[in-house]
Amino acid sequence: MAHLADDVLRFVRATGPRPDELLEEMDAYAEENGFPHVGPEVGGFLQLTARLSGARSIFEFGSGYGYSAYWFAEALPENGEIVLTEVDEGELEMAREYLARGGYDELASYELGDALDTIERYDGPFDAVLIDHQKERYVEALEAVRGKLAPGAVVIADNAMSAEDVVVFEDLLAHVEGQSVEMNEGTRGIADYLDAVRSDPAFETQVLPLGEGIAVSRFEGKADNTEALGSRR
Ligand SMILES: C[S@@+](CC[C@H](N)C(=O)[O-])C[C@H]1O[C@@H](n2cnc3c(N)ncnc32)[C@H](O)[C@@H]1O
Repeated sequence: MAHLADDVLRFVRATGPRPDELLEEMDAYAEENGFPHVGPEVGGFLQLTARLSGARSIFEFGSGYGYSAYWFAEALPENGEIVLTEVDEGELEMAREYLARGGYDELASYELGDALDTIERYDGPFDAVLIDHQKERYVEALEAVRGKLAPGAVVIADNAMSAEDVVVFEDLLAHVEGQSVEMNEGTRGIADYLDAVRSDPAFETQVLPLGEGIAVSRFEGKADNTEALGSRR
């Protein structure tokens, strides 16, 4: 479900970072196959966010065929890294091919399997994180990565407002406005995620109506994390 009016969406796309030819090819693949990638306006925002925060190290929960990772990769420095995680081998292989064609293979690690297992094998610190896997497991992902965030890191959760029939916008709206409402599993997952990140004083969060909604959270970097992560910056 798009949350912007058609003309506003066209305006946002026309003024955002330009997708290159490969991204256009990847967009066409999503269109033809009904794949729920983040789309160009969120992709452009991911890239800008990575640049604004000077991100060097990025982790994705749920990478699909590499579309969001490709947008991120364009903003990484030569010594940067992005960890892609995916349970579907075929999709991860496509991601590897697209990123190699774009010249980003050296920056990428391709991790097949549950992202919640993969994150255990990485220490971080991560400067940017995308959460875009099972909606009912977003809180788990946040908890797993929280101690591995660099001070000033940005965590972006996709589908913060809707996801086809998995996340119901009207129910989420009722929830954030304080009403008690029955929710399906996916909607409950997003509601719990928004509650968790908004009630954690280490994060400052704004939901933006790009794509199916993204929750953008900046991690302040409290003493407990700064100590655990050492003094990289
Ligand atoms: C919405 S798609 C990701 C799209 C991608 N971020 C993009 O915009 O191009 C969600 C992906 O997460 C994968 N996935 C689901 N559960 C996962 C898990 N526990 N660990 C890793 N990947 C998972 C799915 O196979 C699917 O490809």
